[in-house]
Amino acid sequence: MQMTSGPTDYQELLHTAMAAAERTAGQGRVADYIPALATADPNAFGMALATVDGDLHGVGDWEQSFSVQSVSKLFSLALVLTHREHQLWRGVGREPSGNPFNSLVQLEKENGIPRNPFINAGALVVTDRLQSLTGDAAGAVRDFLRQESGNPLLDTDPVVAASEAEHGHRNAALAHFIASHGNLENPVETVLDRYYAQCSIAASCRDLALAGRFLARHGLRADGSRLMPGSDAKRINAVLLTCGAYDAAGEFAFRVGLPGKSGVGGGIVAILPGRAAVCAWGPSLDKVGNSVAAVAALDAFTTASGWSVF
Ligand code: DON
Repeated sequence: MQMTSGPTDYQELLHTAMAAAERTAGQGRVADYIPALATADPNAFGMALATVDGDLHGVGDWEQSFSVQSVSKLFSLALVLTHREHQLWRGVGREPSGNPFNSLVQLEKENGIPRNPFINAGALVVTDRLQSLTGDAAGAVRDFLRQESGNPLLDTDPVVAASEAEHGHRNAALAHFIASHGNLENPVETVLDRYYAQCSIAASCRDLALAGRFLARHGLRADGSRLMPGSDAKRINAVLLTCGAYDAAGEFAFRVGLPGKSGVGGGIVAILPGRAAVCAWGPSLDKVGNSVAAVAALDAFTTASGWSVF
């Protein structure tokens, strides 16, 4: 898919995006169902762009760490898929759910096979498979993020992880239900522990734009080695586009026109295939759990640049 050409002043585009984010001030709410996330500054905003050629640009709080939460799910999926022999797609689907990210309803009707890898149920299955493959699913995600971003300090925030575990009744219910259908390879407690540790990784827009760049580079890592075939990178981008923003995936595609993954920490990573990876962050969320400021910024960014996958 070809991008249309447009202005190449990335810094100016990022400032246009930040101005759109600032206009959303006062909208949305910081996530508080995980109490440790509730302390985030609702007015923080950052955005970074990492090009396929190695350029890096940022505005606002783009080097400030935040809780990556569900953005981690794109990396755990990628790492499982790098094991080519793995039969992940037998245990998780590739269809948009149209339901909230932590919904239990569909899982019962569909016999413990989650709709897609980005709702919580599907992400638990992915973490389980990554745990089987590596012995430490969260450590594998953290190490990948460290390597791609060049930030050796990037790590799980244990306070957020403990807060998630303490308030994780819904995820525990999902994991037990999946296990009851024989769709987990590891003990529920292990899967939940590694899932919380993975979601609680703290990273910045800078780190995540650099780490997401392999999807813009058709599967090539920062060091030039191949993480996965281009066809797998294409498939991940397709699932990001259809499922990456939960029950607002359609609205996100309509406004932004890029594959993207959001998290309740307020971050969104979006991919411009062949050009760049971007990450926008603002902690105030809309009703489905997507950052109000980050969606507005990405909307303004693709509108001003003319870049999208459509
Ligand atoms: O499991 C949870 O609820 C969180 N660790 C992650 C949820 C999340 O980020 C959903 N995103 N919009």
